[in-house]
Amino acid sequence: MANFDFAQRLQAHAALLLDRQQSPGALRTCCAQLFDDCEALGGSLDDHASDLDCGRALSPLEAARCVLDFQRTTTLLRAVDAGLRTCMQQADTVEVLYAGCGPFAPLLLPLLARYPASRLQATLLDVHATALARAQALCSVAGVRDRLRPSLCADAARVQLPQALRPRLLIVEVMQRALEKEPQVAVLANLLPQCAAGALVVPQRIRVSAELADTAREFDPARHRLRVPLGELMELSAASLATLGTQLGAGRIACPSLRVPIDAPEGLDLILRTRIEASPEDVLDDYDSGLTYPAVLKNLGRIRPGELFHCHYRLGPRPGFELQRAGPM
Ligand SMILES: C[S@@+](CC[C@H](N)C(=O)[O-])C[C@H]1O[C@@H](n2cnc3c(N)ncnc32)[C@H](O)[C@@H]1O
Repeated sequence: MANFDFAQRLQAHAALLLDRQQSPGALRTCCAQLFDDCEALGGSLDDHASDLDCGRALSPLEAARCVLDFQRTTTLLRAVDAGLRTCMQQADTVEVLYAGCGPFAPLLLPLLARYPASRLQATLLDVHATALARAQALCSVAGVRDRLRPSLCADAARVQLPQALRPRLLIVEVMQRALEKEPQVAVLANLLPQCAAGALVVPQRIRVSAELADTAREFDPARHRLRVPLGELMELSAASLATLGTQLGAGRIACPSLRVPIDAPEGLDLILRTRIEASPEDVLDDYDSGLTYPAVLKNLGRIRPGELFHCHYRLGPRPGFELQRAGPM
């Protein structure tokens, strides 16, 4: 049954998170309240993750906690809002697919009351049935259940959407930093070709690049960061998937090799940076979110000037980049 207080609080959270004048502190508090409000309406959340053929699906409890990564939640929610408004200019009713919605569907639920069911229909998808049930229940309590099509409990990297379902807006955040562990690449590769032509995706583009860094200087206010760019390993977007897609069957995606400049300082670490362009205006860069913390590849040991690394992205149950030392120049 709808709960007027919950519905009102969701609307207030949405208004605050979409307001670009708000301070980081206010956004953090708002995301914590959103988490508390959603958590309060239901029993405790299951904490069993699933290791799928395409990567790890976080447990409903872990997925719920993603809301608390407030810059992530805010930035992606703003991009979804912008995407909805763009799509509404193009179609009377916008079909949205939210893959990996988790128990709180936080990138869509706060926005649903802003549009009538005649303008927006959303399909929630998650591999965890209890997460999906909780997200649907929250939509009922928020009084927006009429915006939902039947949900899909399935592996998003394999599911075949119902023939009549051609989403114009696809929301997918099933990733960790450097596209490791979780199946963002495999899920996008499966779902995007099943969307309407020219469909929008949130996040719109993810870039992973390699750099050398003096990690001791990353947070030292007295010294500038020392970084040496080595090159981009992958861009994940609707445009790039058209070419990446041909390699997916092989279980790996070839990436450019990396050459360490001959004049690079000794003793630096090789890091992978993640930049998430949720929309052209909404970007997460180094340290903005847990998803964009640089990954330090300590396993490569000491990096020497002139060294060459061959790189590929591994698909399957443990997705991630693999770098192999090819030898000195
Ligand atoms: C990182 S959480 C994100 C939750 C929520 N979308 C958010 O932004 O806060 C990922 C969610 O995606 C689901 N998931 C991961 N891989 C999946 C897959 N292959 N198919 C369906 N759901 C998946 C997990 O069960 C989890 O609920």
